[in-house]
Amino acid sequence: MQTIDKYSGANIHAIQSLHYDLDLAIDFSTSTLRGKITHHFKAVSTGNLVVLDARDLAIKRVYLAATGKELAWQIYSYDYITDTKNDQLAIWLDSALNYGQFLDLTIEYETSPDATAANWVPANQTFGGQYKFMYTQCEAIHCRSLAPLQDSPAIKSTFNATLRVPKPYRAIASAVLVDEREENGTNVFRYAQRIPVQSYLLAMVAGYIDYQRSGPRASVYAEPKILNQSAWELQEMDLFLDTIEHLLTPYQWGTYSVVIMPPSFPYGGMENPYLTFVSPSIILGDRSSTYVVAHEICHSWFGNLITNRNWTHFWLNEGFTQYATRLILRKVYGESKYTCQARIGVNTLRDEVAEYLAQNKPACTTLFPNVYRDGPDDIMSDVPYEKGFLLVTHLENLMGSLNFYDFLRAYLSSFAYRSIDSWDLKATLESYLHAYLPNNASEILRQVDWTQWMFEPGMPKQGKLEFINPEIESSLRLADYYVDHKQGPENKTIYKSFMLDLRVIFVQQLQNRDKELTAETLRAIDKDFDITAKETNPEVLFTWLRLLVANKCDEATPRAKSFLGTYGRMKYVVPIYTAYASANRAEGLKIYQELRYKYHPIAQAIVDKVFAG
Ligand code: BES
Ligand code: ZN
Repeated sequence: MQTIDKYSGANIHAIQSLHYDLDLAIDFSTSTLRGKITHHFKAVSTGNLVVLDARDLAIKRVYLAATGKELAWQIYSYDYITDTKNDQLAIWLDSALNYGQFLDLTIEYETSPDATAANWVPANQTFGGQYKFMYTQCEAIHCRSLAPLQDSPAIKSTFNATLRVPKPYRAIASAVLVDEREENGTNVFRYAQRIPVQSYLLAMVAGYIDYQRSGPRASVYAEPKILNQSAWELQEMDLFLDTIEHLLTPYQWGTYSVVIMPPSFPYGGMENPYLTFVSPSIILGDRSSTYVVAHEICHSWFGNLITNRNWTHFWLNEGFTQYATRLILRKVYGESKYTCQARIGVNTLRDEVAEYLAQNKPACTTLFPNVYRDGPDDIMSDVPYEKGFLLVTHLENLMGSLNFYDFLRAYLSSFAYRSIDSWDLKATLESYLHAYLPNNASEILRQVDWTQWMFEPGMPKQGKLEFINPEIESSLRLADYYVDHKQGPENKTIYKSFMLDLRVIFVQQLQNRDKELTAETLRAIDKDFDITAKETNPEVLFTWLRLLVANKCDEATPRAKSFLGTYGRMKYVVPIYTAYASANRAEGLKIYQELRYKYHPIAQAIVDKVFAG
């Protein structure tokens, strides 16, 4: 039987947390969070046992919130995922609850300094250099290291969070600020999340942080040193919000803020409600990576309102979000931007699919990566994003854009505030088509092979895969010429005119033909365009450096090392370390050992495996 969520050990089929109150002191001197959580449970079957997810938590006391009566509890190891420690906190009630009964239960506890969801950044790794910084990253299943709770996307709860930090720190949560005061030299912030959300959207950040309004709904939080430039870079946030809510349904969350993380942040962005976390790698001075923020904004609908019921249906979050992001890009920047971004996505997918097939992991190339004993971090890839994007785009093309937007609004109204799986989507699509497009329904459905999309490995066999226009062609032609001739054509100055996406497509085309590439060809390209020395955009550089390393161009080592020391974003560093692991393991390991302390625990775990395997 397929369980609701194999990555959670909580007994969510018996009892569900409708709301929780968190009260935590953020202690920079011990790198721990200390305090309590009170769950407001509702029984959904009869029983006297509550099992919560936990990881590395020091549990102090468990008691009934109403009376203070202590309850018996025990920690068990939940050994489902290889190489990852997971616990179950079992709590015995004195008497059984019946279906529909409520129970308020408080747990006093402290987190471990090694909590996988928290990153404690020393002052010298922040932009200001004076104050420490702490941030959390819960997706996919790290929230259990911050608090004992039901750490499954199948469960949605409202919450309140009281966060206590020493002066002059500010603490921000993924919720609405309701109170802010000083109590005996401590800054106390109270937040309320009144929309039920899944555990992975619980997020906190604490640091020496200021903010700036940037539009009617949008603001930027950042360390004072980078606040102005960050606000400039992200000027388009309100435009993105307006554009997408015009196509979908009104933005449900009121305000929208972004907070700029220290370099160790392992992702480009994370869609914490009200408060997207973004990597400083997108603050480039030219607004060229703001699509990351457009993407996180789109999660306000796909992911945060409609949520994947478990992590094997992750494409429902990311594929729809990627699709909506590209709708924004198309409306705001035009058709060519859309085509380039879609092309970049397909290239990324091709590369990833080839790699998984070579590693004999075909299931990871499907939209349903039901992989035994690997955790969600291990199977995280571009497949749910880009294969998902291609499926959604296929549906759009079959139905026509206007019909499809109408379907998306219906889909959102049916499933907002709920967690669903791919079969819920399929059923809704079918009933929508029969109801609203009865004449075309069977013809459209005949062209959607769900079994193929969900379970068949490899590139999709249906729908549009070719995204091309004359500029893209010129970029491909140039790359192909170098691969075919090991040197450049007569007229190669065109490279200088390539805007960012065309440079990305150029290096991706080299990567797509990596088996035919040689160090000599790469050196010829570098001689002509000076990419290693002059390129500053990380989207181009991470693929370029990966190629140099894979082809043993040792002269690239200093640049690779400075790149790996500047960025903590896994998208940028993992491919380069992976190339090192097969081309020059000793050198790569040396660099990694020197820089490892700068990375987030999630990134460390991934790169450790790259060099172990
Ligand atoms: N929700 C993801 C980040 C994530 C995924 C964290 C899985 C943990 C587990 C976020 O929305 C995302 O997709 N970020 C991308 C942005 C890009 C696709 C524009 C990133 O970080 O690169
Ligand atoms: Zn995303």
